Amino acid sequence: MCGIIGYTGTKPVCPILINGLRALEYRGYDSAGVALSGRALTTVKRAGRISVLEEALAAGAAGEEYQGATCGIAHTRWATHGAPTDANAHPHATDRLALVHNGIIENDRVLRSELEAAGYVFNSETDTEAAAKLIDSIYAQNPDPIAALRAATERLEGAYALAVVFADRPKQIYAIRRDNPLIAAATAEGAFLASDIPALLPHTCDYYRPDEDEVVVLDTEGAAPSVRFFGRDGEINHPVCTVDWNVEQAERGGYDHFMRKELGEGPDGVRRTLTPLVHDGLPLFNLPLLDRLCDMRSLRIVACGTAMHAGLMGRYYLERLARMPVTVEIASEFRYRSPILSADEPILLLSQSGETADTLAALRLARANGIPTAAIVNVIGSSVAREADAVLATHAGPEIAVASTKAYTTQAAMMALLAVATAWHRGYLTEDQAREMTAALTDRLPVALEQTIALEDQMIEQAERLAPAQHAFYIGRGPDYDGSVEGALKLKEISYIHSEAYAAGELKHGTISLITEGTPVVALSTDTTTAAKMASNMREVRARGGYVLVICTEATKGEVASCADACIVLPESDPILAPICGVLTEHMIAYHTARVLGCDIDKPRNLAKSVTVE
Ligand code: F6R
Repeated sequence: MCGIIGYTGTKPVCPILINGLRALEYRGYDSAGVALSGRALTTVKRAGRISVLEEALAAGAAGEEYQGATCGIAHTRWATHGAPTDANAHPHATDRLALVHNGIIENDRVLRSELEAAGYVFNSETDTEAAAKLIDSIYAQNPDPIAALRAATERLEGAYALAVVFADRPKQIYAIRRDNPLIAAATAEGAFLASDIPALLPHTCDYYRPDEDEVVVLDTEGAAPSVRFFGRDGEINHPVCTVDWNVEQAERGGYDHFMRKELGEGPDGVRRTLTPLVHDGLPLFNLPLLDRLCDMRSLRIVACGTAMHAGLMGRYYLERLARMPVTVEIASEFRYRSPILSADEPILLLSQSGETADTLAALRLARANGIPTAAIVNVIGSSVAREADAVLATHAGPEIAVASTKAYTTQAAMMALLAVATAWHRGYLTEDQAREMTAALTDRLPVALEQTIALEDQMIEQAERLAPAQHAFYIGRGPDYDGSVEGALKLKEISYIHSEAYAAGELKHGTISLITEGTPVVALSTDTTTAAKMASNMREVRARGGYVLVICTEATKGEVASCADACIVLPESDPILAPICGVLTEHMIAYHTARVLGCDIDKPRNLAKSVTVE
C-alpha cells in the first residue's frame, strides 16, 4: 500500500530511487514521484507506472538535479484519496519541504480546513498534502526538523510512514512512522530508508526497524553516512536486523513473471521452513506456544485473504489430527464485531508480510485483552512478528508478486507440522505416527510439490479452456473446499474471471442455477472419505452442461475421474500432503489462465501486495 524509499550518500540518487521504487512496485503502482534534494528541492511526479516517471526524468523533468543530486525521496502509490493523477501523486511539496507518505491520515479534512484558514492553498485531493502543509507550518515557526515531525504527529490521526526532505538541509532525510512499516540502513556509500526489505537488498542485508513515533534521521554530512533514531527521551540504539534474503531472490531471474518464479520456489520454501523445526525426526517448536496449544480448549485463527485460507487448511489439520476445535476469522471482521475472547483460546495470526493493517489490529486487540497470541509470518522483524507473544517463521523468501503463492504453501505446511506436534502431545498420535507424518511433511511434501509443478502442460491445457469463460466455480468438500476457496480467489484476482468457491454439497441449495452450457467447474477431490459424494456433485454439474475439471489423486481417481471432462492426477494421495498439492495446481492454473489472457499478472489492477490500510 504505497512504497517509499529515500537515499542520501555519495552516489547519484536518481538510479537508486528508481531501482528502489521498482523493488517496491508491488505495494502500489498507479503513480510515482521523486523529490531531489540538492541546490534546489526538485519534485517530479507522474500518474502511471514507474517507467513513466523514469522517462520524464531522463527527458529532463528534474533539470540538472537528475545527474547531480545525491539525496532524495521517492514514492510509488496505491490511491486511497483521489484518483491516480500527477497532482495526487507524491511527493507533496512546499517551498520548504517535500514529503512522501504510506498510510492514511484520517483527520485530513479538519487539518485541511485549518491550514486553508491559515492561507495554504491545496493542489491535490490527497490526505498526504495536509501532512506536508502541517509540517511546513510548524517548521516555518521553528526550523527544527525533529521537533516539527514530532509536533505534527501529535496532530495526525491515522496510520503513516512519512519521509521528508527540507530545502535548507540538502543532505538529510527525516522520517517517522505509526502503524505502517519503515526500515532504515547505512553503508559506506549512503544511508537508506524504505518501506520494505527488497528495496535495500542491492545495498545491504543489515537494517534497523524504528519503533513507532521515533524520528529517523539519515545524514551524510558527518564523517560517514549515518542513520539515527530519536525518541521523546533522546537518541535510541536499535539492534541491527539481518535478512538472509539475496538480490536474486527478489529478482525475476529469467521468468516472465514473479508469480511463476515464486510458484517454483514453494517446495524449497517448505524445506527451509520445516527443517529447523524437526529434531530427531520429531517436530520441536521450542515455544511456549505449543505447551499452551496442547492445554487450550480451542484455537482461533485470524488473518486476511490467502493467509486466512491457509488458516482454513490449518483448521483441517488441527481438527483432524489433534481433535482441537478451531475457528478461522477474517481479521477485518473479527476486530469490529466485538468478539468474545477467552484466555484459554489463544489467537494465531497468519501473515506473509506481517504488516497487514487488519491482522495487526486484530493482534493488538487480542493483546489488549490479555489473550495469548502467536503468529506465523514470512517477514521477520515485521510488526506482527514483533508484537505477537510467540512467532513461527515461514522461510518462503521474499514474495514480490501481488498474488500470494509460496507463502500459502509454506503456511499450510507449517500448520500441518504444528498439528502433528499438537496431536502427538495431546496423545492423538503415537510417537511413531508423529515421526512418520513429520517425515512425510519434510521429505515427501517438497518432492510432491515439485512433481505437481511438473504437470504444468496439463495445467496450461486447462487454462486455455478456462480463459474465455466469464464465470468459473470451484467445488470441494472438507480440506478440498478450503483449497477451492483459495483457488477461486487466485483465479479472479489475476485473470479477472469471476470465480466462486462452493462447498460441493451446497451447490444444489441454490448455486447450481448458475451452471449453464460450458460453465467451467474446477472440482478438487483429494479426500477419499468424500470422493463418492464429490462424484455425485460433479455428475449434477455435468447434467446441466457444466464443464468439469477434476483435480484428484490416485486414491480418489476411481470415484471421480469418470464424472469429469478432464482430470489432473496429483502425485500424492496422502491426506495430509495432497490438499496442498491441489492448491498449488489451482495456483498454477490461475497463473496460466491470466497469462493466456495477457493480464498484468504480477500487478493485477486495483490491488497492492501489502495492505497497510484498514
Ligand atoms: C492474495 C493475497 C492477499 C493476501 C492478504 C494478506 O493472493 O496475496 O489476499 O494474502 O492481503 O496478506 P499478508 O499475508 O501479508 O497478511
